[in-house]
Formats: sequence, C-alpha cells, structure tokens
Amino acid sequence: MGVNDRFLRACRREPVDATPVWFMRQAGRYMPEYRAIRARHTLLDICRQPELAAQVTLQPVDRIDVDAAILFSDLLLLLAPMGIPFDFVKGEGPVIERPVRSADDVDHLRQFEPRDELSHVLETITLVRKELEGRVPLIGFAGAPFTLASYAIEGGPSSNYAKTKALMYGEPKVWHKLCDMFASIVGDYLVAQVEAGVQAVQIFDSWVGALSPDDYREFALPHTSRILEAARATGVPVIHFGTGTATLLETMATAGGDVIGADWRIPLDDAWRLIGHDRAIQGNLDPTLLLGPPERMMDGAEDILRRAAGRPGHIFNLGHGILPETPVENVQALAHFVHGQR
Ligand code: CP3
Repeated sequence: MGVNDRFLRACRREPVDATPVWFMRQAGRYMPEYRAIRARHTLLDICRQPELAAQVTLQPVDRIDVDAAILFSDLLLLLAPMGIPFDFVKGEGPVIERPVRSADDVDHLRQFEPRDELSHVLETITLVRKELEGRVPLIGFAGAPFTLASYAIEGGPSSNYAKTKALMYGEPKVWHKLCDMFASIVGDYLVAQVEAGVQAVQIFDSWVGALSPDDYREFALPHTSRILEAARATGVPVIHFGTGTATLLETMATAGGDVIGADWRIPLDDAWRLIGHDRAIQGNLDPTLLLGPPERMMDGAEDILRRAAGRPGHIFNLGHGILPETPVENVQALAHFVHGQR
C-alpha cells in the first residue's frame, strides 16, 4: 500500500483521489479501547506518558479509515509550566487552581522551554511517527491566545467569558501582555512539534466566536497572527480553527492559515467564499448528527460534499469534536461514506 498523502495534498489544494477525512477528538471516550486505558490512568497521566499517549493516538487510525492522526495531548498542558497549575476534574472539565485575574498575576508567569518542560509531548511525536510507518500523516496542535486566556482567567469552562472580557476591556495592557506571552510560547512549542516530526499543525481557537469582529481584530488577531506566522515558517501546512466564527471567518483568514476550519453554523460554500478560494477549508458536519440516525448523518455529509463541489482543498471534518456518546459504527460509516463520494 502506498503512502496516504490525501490530507497533505488537500491542505495544499492539490487534486486528491478522494476527500480526506479526520475527526477532531477522534481519540477519546466514544472508543471502548480509550475508555479501557482511561479506567486505569488519568487524562494527565496519558498525556504525560509517551507510550500511553502514542497508543491512544493510534487507536482511531487502526479502527477508523481516517487520513490523518492527531497527536493525543491537551491544549492546556502549557499552563502548568507557565505557573498556572490545573487539573481535570471528573464531570467539570479543567479546573485552574489560581486563575489569572490581575497585572500582578500576569507578571508572575514565566516563559519556558517546551523542549525541556514538554519533552514528553515531543517524545510522543517521535514514537507515533515510528509506529505509523507513514500510514497517514501526524497533526500536532496548540491553542490560540484567546482560547487559552479564557481558561486561565475564568479558571475553567465558561458560557459568557465575563471575567475574560472584563480583563480584556478593563485592563487592555495586561490582556495584551498575557496574550503576547501565550503567542511566544505557543509559536515556539509548535516549532518544537514540527522538529519532532508532526507533518501539519492545527491552531485551536475554539472559543473565539465569543468576540465581535472588531474585538477579534483588536484583542485576538495580532497574537494569533504571530503564532500562525511562526508555524508557517516551519513549512508544514497550518490549519486555523474556531467555532461560532461565521462573522469572523474573513478576518480569521487574514490572520493566517493554509486551511481554515469552519463549524456547522455556516454552510460550507458560504464559508469558503468568505475565506477565499485561494485557501483550503476544513469542516463542517454538526457532531450531533453522528448520534443517529445514520441516514440523516449521511445526508448532512452529502450536502457538505455537494457544497465543496469537487474543488481541491476540502478536508472533511466535523464542526467541532466527536461527542463521547457517539457510536463508533457511525464514525466508521461516515469516513467510509466520504471516501466513496466523488
Ligand atoms: O482530537 C484528538 O483526538 C486529540 C486530543 C485532544 C484532546 N484535547 C484530548 C482530550 C485535543 C485536540 C484537545 C484539545 C483541547 N483541549 C481543546 C480544543 C479542542 C476543542 O474541543 O475545541 C480544548 C478546549 C481543550 C481543553 C479541554 N480538555 C476541556 C475543556 C476538556 C474537558 C471537556 C471534556 O470533553 O471532558 C478536556 C479533556 C479532554 N482532552 C478529553 C480528551 C480526549 C476528555 C477525556 C477524558 O476525560 O478522558
């Protein structure tokens, strides 16, 4: 069997034999083999032990016909070495011990060397590349400043980002200092991931849809652009993803990225027009459609492929991550369906 380079070709908007597909959160609780490992290890244990993280990264590649692997890790790992310790608490998600709320808090954060403090992630990458033997490319990732700052400031997940925005509007200098620090660290971390062997990177700005276009331009874009520029300079394809971004896509594209991720709240063809046909696009099925009935899920996938219209540069994905209650058979059937459509 030849090397599967569909995903990388689509990132570069080259013709492909079938639309490439991978899924955000393709490794996770919906898979019995992941739950078996999670029964014996915490999420942070898995992230910090290269053998376990590599094993979990490969689970969906073995089980589902995906065209890329995504490193098993977490967006928030870089908070601890910056001086923002946190844990994942069952039923609550991430909990930050002492959220960042003031100028003084930001002054006490530290830059760090990812090649030392996150060396376990880089070891995972080396291991995964070896075990993949070129079957599919490996995607690395990191968070964008707005999304990272929202966890650091809120102390956990949030529905309105009130504390985040209060700091942003109330103390813009502190905000920009914090985001500038995230941008330096994330840029360097992504370069280190590429050095270790990832063949593409995705920047997750999962919660940036909370911002208006003007606020996005003022408070997020300058920092995200710096990260995208550092990633671009490595030469690997860069995916720029967010959710709730229908009003931001055009501006997100100006910030950078070879591929722009879109969620399901906007039809794929409208999104592509906004970002421009000189960019590749990734998306954008509603993850809830994978809960059933399969006919409805396939109709949704077919609609997306029709809107992509065979134009080079479409990577099929969901608009956000796979939900834990998703039947594995539906994920398998969806990947199979996408590959079978022309
Ligand atoms: O996509 C993949 O298969 C790779 C693995 C991956 C994880 N986190 C593992 C994980 C990736 C790409 C991430 C990124 C991440 N982490 C994001 C951005 C992606 C997104 O969904 O927008 C965010 C916001 C985080 C922070 C985070 N991690 C939260 C808010 C939570 C709790 C919510 C939840 O789903 O429980 C996590 C936990 C987490 N990270 C899980 C996984 C598989 C849940 C696993 C578990 O408890 O076993």
